Amino acid sequence: MTGGALHCEGVPLSRIAEAVGTPAYIYSTATLTRHLGVVQQAFANTPTLVCYSVKACSTLAVLKLFAKGGAGFDIVSVGELERVRRVGGDLRKVVFAGVGKTEDEMVAAIRAGILMFNVESAEELEALDRVGQRLGVQAPFALRVNPDVDAKTHRYIATGLKTSKFGVPVGEAVALYAKSKRMKGLVARGLDCHIGSQLTDTRPVRQAMTLVGDVYKTLRAKGFPLTHLDVGGGLGVTYSTETPPGVADYAKAVLEPLHGLGATLVLEPGRVLVANAGVLLTRVLYRKKTPAKHFVIVDAGMNDLLRPALYEAHHEIAPVVPRKGKRATVDVVGPVCESSDVLGHSRSMSPLAQGDLLAVLTAGAYGMSMSSSYNSRPRPPEVLVDGETFRVVRVRETVTDLMRGETP
Ligand code: LLP
Repeated sequence: MTGGALHCEGVPLSRIAEAVGTPAYIYSTATLTRHLGVVQQAFANTPTLVCYSVKACSTLAVLKLFAKGGAGFDIVSVGELERVRRVGGDLRKVVFAGVGKTEDEMVAAIRAGILMFNVESAEELEALDRVGQRLGVQAPFALRVNPDVDAKTHRYIATGLKTSKFGVPVGEAVALYAKSKRMKGLVARGLDCHIGSQLTDTRPVRQAMTLVGDVYKTLRAKGFPLTHLDVGGGLGVTYSTETPPGVADYAKAVLEPLHGLGATLVLEPGRVLVANAGVLLTRVLYRKKTPAKHFVIVDAGMNDLLRPALYEAHHEIAPVVPRKGKRATVDVVGPVCESSDVLGHSRSMSPLAQGDLLAVLTAGAYGMSMSSSYNSRPRPPEVLVDGETFRVVRVRETVTDLMRGETP
């Protein structure tokens, strides 16, 4: 906030809205760069590779900043692999996760020379072996173990419970590594786990680290040539009243249980790097008062930012240039034809008029990357601010783009 108006770095958000229209995603170069540095710094005393989790925001300009900052990448598809390649990211610093990798994706990633596949089932391990043998190479892998700890986060983004589809039970891991010794297309490079996203408590992190640290030691003692322990991502951010641990406390919770392990750590932070670096800018279209509610209808909807509709997630919404006057409790809703298209329920807002700009905060993570064109609404443009300047790093989609490839 400068001079009563919201800015991104040195640029008033209203100036960006005039230039590119609304809705639009805006990111700060300084914040993105700083966040990566803070995470790298917190682990500087231990050999660590910070692999940015591309799914959080896969925009090329954002990936390029992280590639320049020395990050590796955590990918879940060939699409993400190609994005990393496009920005000149170091493919030897790529880890490939996901329960449903296809053999074609395995071929592409092996050819790209990635660091390792994070394998999530016995059948996937067999498939990777087949692909490795077909290509005449040993594909490097880590098994993702499911530590069965409760990450105390939203049930849609908790991944380390025994009922979740991710990873293999810890009790099966050693036998699978043993089996892999007889598979000529594979080489065991690491061990992997990820307990969930938007973590706000370090206790489950410590618990999981203690467990995977023990498995890692057992595997090393049995002669498996592991060099990397991938501890996943998940560090939370503040959307409203959450109090996630700082990066230093998170680092302690990871590092203390792993003391003396001798592994190179792989981290997969997504949200913590990008969430607070981005806002979704939107404009008030109409106001509507009914006997029951006071609605503010804006031009961004659940297709642009799905989190509130999908997870009932809270994002603060702030007027770009606040007006003086009595606050009112309003529902900030989008134009999409779904009752779940509500960006903010029962928000106390200063007076708003048609045409006013609002910023939906902490929207950099899982915002644009989860957007869709539902209701045939073209996706918003993305703008990267750097100091006093800004540039459009993705143009607004057009209706013609939406119909590409279709035949009436
Ligand atoms: N590593 C793995 C294996 C993951 O599955 C994820 C996220 C990450 C790393 C990055 O987690 P982060 O540091 O961003 O928490 N769409 C949801 C979040 C889904 C997370 C999926 N996996 C949301 O908007 O809250």
